[in-house]
Amino acid sequence: MLAARAASLLGRRAFSTSAAQNAAKVAVLGAAGGIGQPLSLLLKANPKVTELSLYDVVNTPGVTADLSHINTSSKVSGFTPENDGLRAALDGCDVVVIPAGVPRKPGMTRDDLFKINAGIVRDLAQACAETCPKANILIISNPVNSTVPIASEVFKKAGVYDPKRIFGVTTLDCVRASRFIYEKSGNLVDVPVVGGHAGITIIPLFSQVEGLKLSNEERDALTYRVQFGGDEVVKAKAGTGSATLSMAYAGARFTDSILRATQGEDVLEWAFVRNDLYANEGVNYFSTYVRLGPEGVKEVLPLPDSISDYEKDLVAKALVELQKTEKKGVEFATSA
Ligand code: NAI
Repeated sequence: MLAARAASLLGRRAFSTSAAQNAAKVAVLGAAGGIGQPLSLLLKANPKVTELSLYDVVNTPGVTADLSHINTSSKVSGFTPENDGLRAALDGCDVVVIPAGVPRKPGMTRDDLFKINAGIVRDLAQACAETCPKANILIISNPVNSTVPIASEVFKKAGVYDPKRIFGVTTLDCVRASRFIYEKSGNLVDVPVVGGHAGITIIPLFSQVEGLKLSNEERDALTYRVQFGGDEVVKAKAGTGSATLSMAYAGARFTDSILRATQGEDVLEWAFVRNDLYANEGVNYFSTYVRLGPEGVKEVLPLPDSISDYEKDLVAKALVELQKTEKKGVEFATSA
């Protein structure tokens, strides 16, 4: 499954010249950034994307000209804020991927980005609600635990909210967990990661990986590494940003999953979406296993009963944090 995913993202199919069966227009907002550029490259290589619409406040013309020379059949267009470029970029979109905003520097948490990114996501979501209200909106901009509630509130205010269509992209946590387990076991397997996308809200469910045996020390260390794996990259980049290449890979995988579902395939992914799993605890957004279909989320699956007591404890701790970050996002969006 993982090998097939990699092949479909990067491999020979990327260079197929056969016409895509279904048209799909995908916009990337923040397309000239550290994530935006490699993500746009991977989407240009995806034969399911027939039209790629790139928007950023700076540098979009160069990125667009560069990508437009790649010999896949999709059309690439670039937009900046001039001449109402945002709305032109979003016109007719089926999928909108949002990596716009500022990334972390060493010592920062994702929540430290709220001040700047909350307003950016709110304004971009507003334009989506007005221009392409039925598109699937894939939010990468941090803090995801708050930016997804913000976008949802904007859609509610505009009277076009469909909770099945707004996603927080947590795929990088699954990609990291899968890689770290591969380093340990030599098996490339999917690892469920649930909860949210920040520190202790990121919960890898190692108990659900068939045949995986970990000592308590190994489990603790691996859990910590998945929860704070982003910090390894922030530290190594020494002030120049956070994960961009692995995030682009993860974002391209999630976009591909959404497109496959749109085209009628039964697809399961982990994503941070609106659901009632923990509504009694005041948490309305929680990353879990979701079945995707042509209309977005088709089914939200609860966590398996067989998760360990250790993992149940992690969920309880995450819910306290998720409740706060959701409230922060909702208050920001509704107070404006
Ligand atoms: P970057 O600074 O390299 O790129 C961001 C881009 O957004 C820039 O090109 C900038 O011009 C653009 N931008 C800023 N305001 C905009 C607006 N109003 N409209 C359109 N574009 C706008 O940052 P990078 O590294 O690409 O990260 C982007 C975001 O993704 C950050 O918030 C980061 O924390 C988040 N991220 C999320 C991950 C996840 O797993 N969900 C993983 C890694 C990063």
